[in-house]
Amino acid sequence: MVLKNKYTGLIERYKHRLPVADDTPVISLGEGNTPLIQLRNIPDFIGKEVEIYVKFEGLNPTGSFKDRGMTMAVTKAVEEGSRAIICASTGNTSASAAAYAARAGISAFVLIPEGKIALGKLAQTMMYGALIMQIRGNFDDGMKLVKEIVDHAPVTIVNSINPFRIQGQKTAAFEIIDELACVPDYHCLPVGNAGNITAYWQGYREYASSTESLPAVVASRPVMCGYQAAGAAPFIAGKMIDNPETVATAIRIGHPQSWDYAWAAQKESGGWFKCFTDQQILDAQKLLAAQEGIFCEPASATSLAGALHDLSEGNIPEGSKIVCTLTGNGLKDPDTAIQQCTEKPITIDANLDAVKAAILDRL
Ligand code: F0G
Repeated sequence: MVLKNKYTGLIERYKHRLPVADDTPVISLGEGNTPLIQLRNIPDFIGKEVEIYVKFEGLNPTGSFKDRGMTMAVTKAVEEGSRAIICASTGNTSASAAAYAARAGISAFVLIPEGKIALGKLAQTMMYGALIMQIRGNFDDGMKLVKEIVDHAPVTIVNSINPFRIQGQKTAAFEIIDELACVPDYHCLPVGNAGNITAYWQGYREYASSTESLPAVVASRPVMCGYQAAGAAPFIAGKMIDNPETVATAIRIGHPQSWDYAWAAQKESGGWFKCFTDQQILDAQKLLAAQEGIFCEPASATSLAGALHDLSEGNIPEGSKIVCTLTGNGLKDPDTAIQQCTEKPITIDANLDAVKAAILDRL
């Protein structure tokens, strides 16, 4: 079947900056072009004069930023004749890989840590029809196996060690610059396997060195702030760690694959890595939802937790323009969301008096 609008996503928009040819068979679900939302209530709430924007990547087709890299990785895999893709995942990569494989008509195999995947991600991956292997181990164990299996089976790895993933993900930086017409002062990101901070830094560097760019963009780059969960913080430890643990299961990673690239982003940008407790991460998630109406998953809120911390400590000065990437949609992890809400739904009789009493009680 001929798809009339097959080029709907970021490959079409940024083709001239991506390794694709005119006849490359683009596998797209309309990813990218996600909203950059300026926070209007939180700056007042914390009493700071700042412009904070969130890049809401949870509004990609499968609900996370992974779709940016996956459209590229699967497009290139298909172009190269691959019939199957494989990844290890904490949940979002597996959902994205499964969706793009379904779209391309190829097979997806995913390795996930048993019992440590948010419910929405598991549901998605099952529906898209991937073969799910739950391993008795963590993401790092899965990653090791995936790197080994390619010598034994005809499968293409679509984890972010696949360079096409980084190529696709760098477009988020392009979108931010295109929309702001300048480069933010600070860019805050959650860091797990460290592919995304690598990709953003590549994107910012490319735009800064492009002759096509606006004068405000040339030679201008943000400070990159990488934030981790305290129980899964190899960049803060300065070494790989075993047995990472955090409620933010998406970033429950102790052996990040893009280790050197992430350190380069930190050093070249004059940035830093910091970590936050699970409670700080969940508080930021709740604050964003309750103050701004934006529901991201726990791992994503790590970027906001970091930005708020560094604002209050004065590491990020007032007057700054800050972008926080919200990597995934809050609907991915309903269990964690419901557990942390102290105010539960109330049950009342189905009559006018009961509804009236409940409302007047609260006003
Ligand atoms: N936020 C979310 C929601 C994620 O799913 C991930 C990674 C990250 C942040 C960290 O990004 O790995 O590029 O540093 N999730 C991967 C997965 C590991 O399998 O879905 P990173």
